[in-house]
Amino acid sequence: EDWDLKLDTTTQDGKDLELAASSLKKSDVPVAFPTETVYGLGADATRSAAVKGIYRAKQRPSDNPLIVHIASLKQLRRLLSSSETTPEVDPIPQIYHQLIKRFWPGPITIILPVPEGSKLAPEVTAGLRTFGARMPRNLLALALIKTADVPVAAPSANASTKPSPTAAEHVRYDLDGRIEMIVDGGPCDVGVESTVVDGLNSPPAILRPGGIGIDLIKTVPGWENTVVGYHDVSLKGDAAPRAPGMKYRHYAPKAPVMLVEAIGGKQPSALDLSRQLGTNSSVGLVRTKTWKRMPVGEVIESAEDQGLGSMELTPSGADISASPLKAMLRESAYHQKQLHAEEVIIEEGDKRFIVWDVCIGPDTASVARGLFSALRELDRKDVDAIIVEGVDDEEGDIAAAVMNRLRKAAEIKLEQL
Ligand code: TXA
Ligand code: MG
Repeated sequence: EDWDLKLDTTTQDGKDLELAASSLKKSDVPVAFPTETVYGLGADATRSAAVKGIYRAKQRPSDNPLIVHIASLKQLRRLLSSSETTPEVDPIPQIYHQLIKRFWPGPITIILPVPEGSKLAPEVTAGLRTFGARMPRNLLALALIKTADVPVAAPSANASTKPSPTAAEHVRYDLDGRIEMIVDGGPCDVGVESTVVDGLNSPPAILRPGGIGIDLIKTVPGWENTVVGYHDVSLKGDAAPRAPGMKYRHYAPKAPVMLVEAIGGKQPSALDLSRQLGTNSSVGLVRTKTWKRMPVGEVIESAEDQGLGSMELTPSGADISASPLKAMLRESAYHQKQLHAEEVIIEEGDKRFIVWDVCIGPDTASVARGLFSALRELDRKDVDAIIVEGVDDEEGDIAAAVMNRLRKAAEIKLEQL
């Protein structure tokens, strides 16, 4: 069950990680680190001053609780034990045992009661009597937590309201000058945050869809009846803010996002869409599947026919430099789809119109992996608006997490075109 990990401190990377760990232990300025979902902004969860440093760096409202990251079950049990617990009784509630066995380390966060006399800084839970815990599966994350030997409170390492960071350069872009250190592990594997589940109430509930889909969760004994959100009205009162953080704007790039949930009938051209948006200079287009051939293909063709097409391939994403520690993550980084924004210039009369076209599909895992990065890439192109093609979230997998993020990011939502 628990594993052992030894850090080779004779290498530069080992030394760097040791430095990051000691900073976590002592400093009140948070450390950014990779997880398999998104980059986290970590601090020692037992020290108030350190946890406050997270809210300060992110400019995050302090009533939005943080997830506590642990590297072993032993560490979690230590955190859950109070003077009243007897050593024979496992402080991790029974309902979570199978779930943990199945999905940890991995992208699922479980809600636990804050024990009497808890060592957790009150700022972690934002005053709630429960806290979220998760064991990430990224090796650098595990090594960092293990070496620091403290539970690590960490939200996503973006500036509050912005898309979550899925590469070290995203963190740098948002938080440069506000933090001292980023542990660079290359692009994240999953690309959307962990699924947050509450098994303390019946039926068990998913508070935030994420990296592990509901269908998979439902296959675990005790979790067959899992619901999305709380269905029991008695739990929805003012006194119980069940899914904190919900009221805040989230995942939003600078440009307004228009989400097209489903495309039926005749497919519109990018130009039609830009007219709908009332913009006439540039638009970003994030395609997931339907638009793979149409209509942008059409647009490109006709632009090329007229000799107007100028296509430029712009690689984005983190620069994964060679080093032994980072090499541990090569394997997860290799299937990160290279993200390209293709520039398509359209001229109509005296109007010049640019489409920055990104395709992150066609499968939902790729869409999840590339989504935040695509939104950030288009922001850097300074587009006037971003049109995103939705994915079908009937499937109960990671598509639900993708659509959840997109619905929060979008200002304009179209059921259908
Ligand atoms: O994948 C992830 O979960 C990433 C990486 C860094 O681990 N972390 C992350 O943290 O997404 P953050 O702070 O961006 O989102 C944490 C969310 C809160 O907004 C809230 O919805 C939920 O987790 N949460 C935390 N504690 C909770 C609690 N006691 N009860 C209910 N929900 C809680
Ligand atoms: Mg976040």
